[in-house]
Amino acid sequence: MPLLDLQNVSFVNDGKAILRNVSFVVEAGDFISIVGPSGSGKSTLLRLCSHLISPTGGNIFYKGVNMNEYIPTDLRKSIAYCSQSPYLFGNNVKENLDFPFSVRKMPFNEGRVKELFSLFNIPFTFLTADVQNLSGGEKQRISLVRTLLFLPEVLLLDEITSALDAENTRMVENAVSSLNNEGITVLWITHDPEKSQKYANKIITVEAGKINSLEVLK
Ligand SMILES: Nc1ncnc2c1ncn2[C@@H]1O[C@H](COP(=O)(O)OP(=O)(O)OP(=O)(O)O)[C@@H](O)[C@H]1O
Ligand SMILES: [Mg+2]
Repeated sequence: MPLLDLQNVSFVNDGKAILRNVSFVVEAGDFISIVGPSGSGKSTLLRLCSHLISPTGGNIFYKGVNMNEYIPTDLRKSIAYCSQSPYLFGNNVKENLDFPFSVRKMPFNEGRVKELFSLFNIPFTFLTADVQNLSGGEKQRISLVRTLLFLPEVLLLDEITSALDAENTRMVENAVSSLNNEGITVLWITHDPEKSQKYANKIITVEAGKINSLEVLK
């Protein structure tokens, strides 16, 4: 049984068809790169896959069960979406990183945070930093740390390296590739065709709200 199964999925908003009749399956362990022009519907597709929005037509099944039947907060623990514009709330970084623990009624695990900070080259002093003062690339990495504190089954990444330099990009790519090797399924929107070839086993091209091609690489 596929992990995710999209069947004729459409998303229409205010009379505008943003996605039309999208069908594909995601198998456990896949690393899928999603490419396509700006405005083609890539982010909308990942927002549908994480149940942040619901299809206006068609169905999405997760492990054979219609997504609408899951409790959204439970589903979000299994399918994590890291958005294109990192959203950090409150005043400081710690509040953001404490959130995944508090929703699980667990104490803050400083050791786990330290592990991820060192993986993404973030000085530990950033824990108390004011979120207003962070650079775009720092926000992207903190947002990724928040997503990875508890490992999901499916990781949906929306251009998460767009504000990073080459070195930090490589670090994030290596980390995500290791997670995939450990069994986490990855769907990654990228504008970098080279990257989509390097790590992915499938490439989906979205154009004008439709899947133009699904290429299986290995
Ligand atoms: N909730 C919405 N209501 C109306 N229009 C929307 C909504 N969400 C997205 N759109 C429009 O749908 C189209 C697809 O948006 P989407 O963000 O999915 O594109 P994208 O492929 O991720 O683009 P980019 O590469 O620029 O991030 C765009 O024209 C966008 O303006
Ligand atoms: Mg987008």
